[in-house]
Amino acid sequence: MKAVILAGGTGSRLKPLTSWTNKHLLPIGNYPMICYGVAKLREAGIRELVIVTTRSALGGFSQVLGSGLEWGVSIIYRVQEEAGGIAQALELARPLMKPGEKFAVLLGDNLFEDSLASYFKQFENQDGGAMVLVKKVDDPTRYGVPTFSAPPEKIAYIREKPERPESNYCVIGLYFYDDRVFHIIDGVKPSRRGELEITDVNNAYALAGKLEFCELRGWWTDAGTFDSMEEAGIKLKGTLP
Ligand code: G1P
Repeated sequence: MKAVILAGGTGSRLKPLTSWTNKHLLPIGNYPMICYGVAKLREAGIRELVIVTTRSALGGFSQVLGSGLEWGVSIIYRVQEEAGGIAQALELARPLMKPGEKFAVLLGDNLFEDSLASYFKQFENQDGGAMVLVKKVDDPTRYGVPTFSAPPEKIAYIREKPERPESNYCVIGLYFYDDRVFHIIDGVKPSRRGELEITDVNNAYALAGKLEFCELRGWWTDAGTFDSMEEAGIKLKGTLP
């Protein structure tokens, strides 16, 4: 299976650092943030990566990762010319996927402790559709928050950064899709903040009864704030898989 790492964005919660450097090139422990995602995907058996980033950050990624040779993967880069949301960034991977191909999408600031291999295996065995991972958190308002249906438990819908969350779970930034995802993105309209939201894509799958979910085991963070970056540095220092 291929994986797409989304590593663009403005990193607004990490200013002023991100005024000069792409968030994913900032240090976590001994390595730039992007290295953890690449190493985690490699550990899960992924050998072909697509990295989507901005024009100004491309040189930095090439310096750290190059072709992927030293990391045991092969990397193709795509440039997002304008910030237009996670779903718009994902659309840039479309020409690189074969019809019928399933793949994973990782938000580059999502960092994990445990192996991701079992989730990849589970999606390999899933009959099409999409799969997301959820985790209980203290502050769901920062995330996409799922509402679960009565058993058999499914995700009924996801709300992006709700003021009054309907569960204590968040949808984390590792998504699994079949090739229908690009057709769904074609129909997604920009949100109030002018972005193509990944949550709208996931809700289209949920509405069609095609969104499965798994609860993530082990420590995880979205290192998009100074506090979570610091926590990740302490947790992951020297533990690149
Ligand atoms: C994004 C998604 C959100 C998800 C989060 C996980 O938010 O939009 O649904 O819960 O990633 O990291 P962002 O961190 O880009 O604001």
